[in-house]
Formats: sequence, structure tokens, C-alpha cells
Amino acid sequence: MIYLDNAASTWPKPPEVAEAAKTAISDYGANPGRGGHQLARRAEQTITKTRAKLARLFGVKDPNRFLFCFHATHAINQAIQGTLSSEDHVIISGWEHNAVARPVTALAQTKGVRVSVVEPSESGDWLTAIQQAVSPRTKMIITTHGSNVTGEVMPVVEIGQYARSKGILYLVDASQTAGLLPYRLDEWPIDMLAFPGHKGLYGPQGTGGLYVAEGVSMYPLLFGGTGSRSEELEQPLDWPGGFESGTLNTPGLAGLGAGVDFVLRTGVERIHQHEMELTRLLWEGLKRLNGVRLSTEEMPSLPLFSFNLVGLDGQEVAMILDQHYDIAVRAGFHCAALKHRSLGTEAGAIRVSPGYFNTPAEMESFLKAIAEIQRYLS
Ligand code: ALA
Repeated sequence: MIYLDNAASTWPKPPEVAEAAKTAISDYGANPGRGGHQLARRAEQTITKTRAKLARLFGVKDPNRFLFCFHATHAINQAIQGTLSSEDHVIISGWEHNAVARPVTALAQTKGVRVSVVEPSESGDWLTAIQQAVSPRTKMIITTHGSNVTGEVMPVVEIGQYARSKGILYLVDASQTAGLLPYRLDEWPIDMLAFPGHKGLYGPQGTGGLYVAEGVSMYPLLFGGTGSRSEELEQPLDWPGGFESGTLNTPGLAGLGAGVDFVLRTGVERIHQHEMELTRLLWEGLKRLNGVRLSTEEMPSLPLFSFNLVGLDGQEVAMILDQHYDIAVRAGFHCAALKHRSLGTEAGAIRVSPGYFNTPAEMESFLKAIAEIQRYLS
């Protein structure tokens, strides 16, 4: 299998990820933070270590600024639903995944939250568009750090500086950038940052997290057992436990810790550089073919982009790639209705996203397959 769907989930994982998850199940599968016995303590230590590794990767001194979630969607929902209330105004970018677009749409329908969707100017200027959308009721700005359709990157530090100057919360969706771009969250004006564990951090699915800067107040999304102050009925708002009700996914978080170790050891820059070399091969190879419509004019800044083959159905092409060539890509709308609308790709597109374990020879095989499919179908 030539796996070119790393933007959806990285695969394969470094072998130590499965090993760490397996050990957590087979050697110390007790409940973390729920009891003082040695197995519970060992489970808890694993989770504490993973939090510390995340803090190191994202440039944060206090590991307790990281809340564990099931995935980035959960983290985004915690951030949005934990802070926005009736009549608040929120600005989101037109590059947002449905993980952002749907929760704010739901809040608009149920709580009267007002939503503005902004697009950059022709020259790529986001700030002016955001400034024009701000109102006295704007509580939050939400942008992705990188589009999951085109691989374009957003100027998050610049937007964050503006948000901070206006006292507006800034939430960043790092689904396509965590583990691929360097972060200095202690220094950056970002209030909240949501990330999945199973993409650029190489952890298992069912893991993710939310970074919340000190001083940001938020209501929990989930209520229940936290392992602390168990005699009380009221939810303790301790940090991070008060926001992590229910038993945490110890095997998943053990695997995530091993994945983050891999990223720290390999280096974010090296991972990005390798994946961008592969992306360039794909980009240039597709550009050389006739009848290929790339979704953007510029080479992306992240290792993913989308394209269409003129006159051919993207889903059918993806199916042929899978079944005849053993090549995995993702076709369709990539859970990103807003972005496909602004690109004008009404029938969706085919997305390719190489990963750290892909090779240049695999990129050549992919390009050969596309040329053959074009010849055969047209
Ligand atoms: N959000 C993931 C993607 O872009 C699943 O494919």
C-alpha cells in the first residue's frame, strides 16, 4: 500500500507507539488518578509524562495547560462551547473544517450566537478582513493554522496579536500543523489551541488535546468523575482534572507519548522538510500532466494539496487508485464544506498527503498511476 492520506491520520506509526499502547493495556491497565495503588499510579505517571512531552513540543512551561480530549473535534467543542454564550459574536475563517463550522452553526441556531465567516483579500491579507468583521460583541476569533484541503498556512501570530489587542479570545485549530510546524505557545498570542493525537503527533486515534493559556476561563464540556473531591456534587474546576471528566484513554495517551517522543527525536523541521520534498515531487509531476486542475496556484506550505482531473470523477479516481494500484488518497469534501465552496470545487477534489514514511519512488508510482488512469478513462 502507498499511503497518501496522512492528513486524515498518519500511518504507519513508529513501532514504539503500538508497543507503548500494548504495554499500557497488558502491564498496568488500571485507572489513572482513581486510587492510590501502584498500578493506578503507574497509569497516572504515563499520562503526566505525555502531558510534559506535549508541553516541550509546543514550547509551554506548564504541562497542566494541556487538557486531554478524544480528538481535535472534542477539543474545539470544549473551547467553543466552554466560552461562548447567547448573543456573543464569533469570527471564523473560510478555511475552517466542519469541526469548527458545525459547532458555531449549532450555537447560532440554539443560542443566538452570531457567526461571521471571513475570507482573505486577493493578496492573502487576513487581518483586514478580520478587523472589518469585529464588533463590540466579538468574543472569539477561530482560525485553522493550515487548511486540510490546500495546505495553505494562516498567519496565526499576527492574528493573535490583533485579537489580544482587542481583548478577543483566539482559538487555533492545529489539526494539520501540530508536529509539522514549530510552536512557541508561551510566547505566542494564542489563547487556545486544539490538536489531534493521531496526525502529525503519530499517536493512536481517540487522542487529542486542547492547550489553554493561563488566565483564560472556560466552562467544562463534560461533567462527572474527576478522581478529586469525590464527596462533592459540584464539578471541581481544578486544572486540568476538572475538564477531563471520565477515565482517560491511558493506552492511547501512552501511544501518544511515544509518538511525541518520535517527533521530538526526529525534529519537526526534518519531518516537514522530508514531507515537503515528497509534496514537491507530486505537485510538479501533476503540473506536468495535461488535464490536471490543482486547487491552488502556489505550492502549499504543508504536505498536502488537492486536485481534479478534468472530466473525471474524483471519487472514481480514488477508488481506482485504491483497488487497482493499492494507493490511498482521500477524495470528496474532506469535511471542509466552507473551503470547497470558496475554491468552487462543487464536486470536491482528490487530496494527496504524503507522510514521513513515504519515499520518492512512491511519488513516482502515484504519478504513473494518475497518467494511466487519465489515459484509460478519457
Ligand atoms: N480532518 C481529517 C481530514 O482532513 C479527517 O481528512
